[in-house]
Amino acid sequence: MKRTAMTALVAALIAAPVLVAAGPDDDTLVVNGEIEMTTKAPAPAHMEGTGIDTIMSGWHFREDETQALQMDDFDNTGMIFVEQAQEVWNTVEGTEGKSCASCHDEASESMKGVRAVYPKWDEDKEEVKTLAMQINACRTENMGAEAYKYDSVPMASMEALIAAQSRGMPMNVAIDGPVRETWEKGKEIYYTRYGQLELACANCHEDNWGNMIRADHLSQGQTNGFPVYRLKNTKLNTVHGRFKGCIRDTRAETFAPGSPELVALELYVASRGNGLSVEGPSVRN
Ligand code: HEC
Ligand code: HEC
Repeated sequence: MKRTAMTALVAALIAAPVLVAAGPDDDTLVVNGEIEMTTKAPAPAHMEGTGIDTIMSGWHFREDETQALQMDDFDNTGMIFVEQAQEVWNTVEGTEGKSCASCHDEASESMKGVRAVYPKWDEDKEEVKTLAMQINACRTENMGAEAYKYDSVPMASMEALIAAQSRGMPMNVAIDGPVRETWEKGKEIYYTRYGQLELACANCHEDNWGNMIRADHLSQGQTNGFPVYRLKNTKLNTVHGRFKGCIRDTRAETFAPGSPELVALELYVASRGNGLSVEGPSVRN
């Protein structure tokens, strides 16, 4: 496993003891005794040269007690939001008198495999769309209902319902073809140093994963677990909500949730997780 030197800036962020290398554990994630999760996988070909040979779920970097919360749906608080979204799924909203179920029947059937391939190309709009964008498109264009705020709890809950239908399936976002330009843009953002601390995503999640930063055990910053129930803010968090928090920690002006920049970044980061199981809703601290 790769252990690069800490950059001076990252080191500066860390309270004594200066550097505690605490690698990922070797535990196995099986949910409800039946859904076997792939939490370590060979890095996708496009990551050659990054120094990461094995991609890993953020689950491996959490304490045993936090890990356990994701192993049984009765302990996973994220599942409460799934149940709430299931009710919303069946509820008529908007001027067209429709619910999600009016067009998509059972989420357990129609949404199977969907989370694994998002973000993906939207043929009609000729742009990369995230799951959140698709949900809001259905609400506004197909139902005549209000859009959800991009990183709100109702949005995260609907994403959780959809993600839950793909748990255990490998992440498999496309990076070639029409999405390529957006993917390249996301990659550029990933390696750009932002803020007063001049830190890029890569400085923490590529160069220093496995190390402790303050009291936190740095993961590879994968998104296969999203949406994520966080013990810290006791709510379900979206990918863009998390990106915003990480960028804020570098003391940078953040890109807004739903902005083209974060959509591009989401696609690129998702592609670094191709091969890991969809875990959402997962539990983290
Ligand atoms: C009037 C019918 C209609 C309603 C109501 C509707 N949708 Fe859709 N939805 C569609 C159609 C048609 C598509 C596929 C075409 C497209 O991409 O727009 C779709 C696509 C989707 C997809 C993408 C599936 C994939 O394979 O990529 C998701 C996710 C989705 N809808 C979620 C929802 C949710 C959540 C609701 C309720 C808030 C909802 N939809 C309500 C018609 C509807
Ligand atoms: C100063 C270091 C730092 C920087 C820079 C940083 N992050 Fe993070 N990030 C963290 C810490 C600490 C956590 C929480 C522990 C963990 O999972 O790594 C985290 C968590 C995450 C997670 C959640 C992982 C999971 O499994 O729940 C994602 C995704 C993420 N970061 C993406 C990013 C992206 C994208 C960027 C660049 C915009 C970025 N981070 C920049 C420190 C950083």
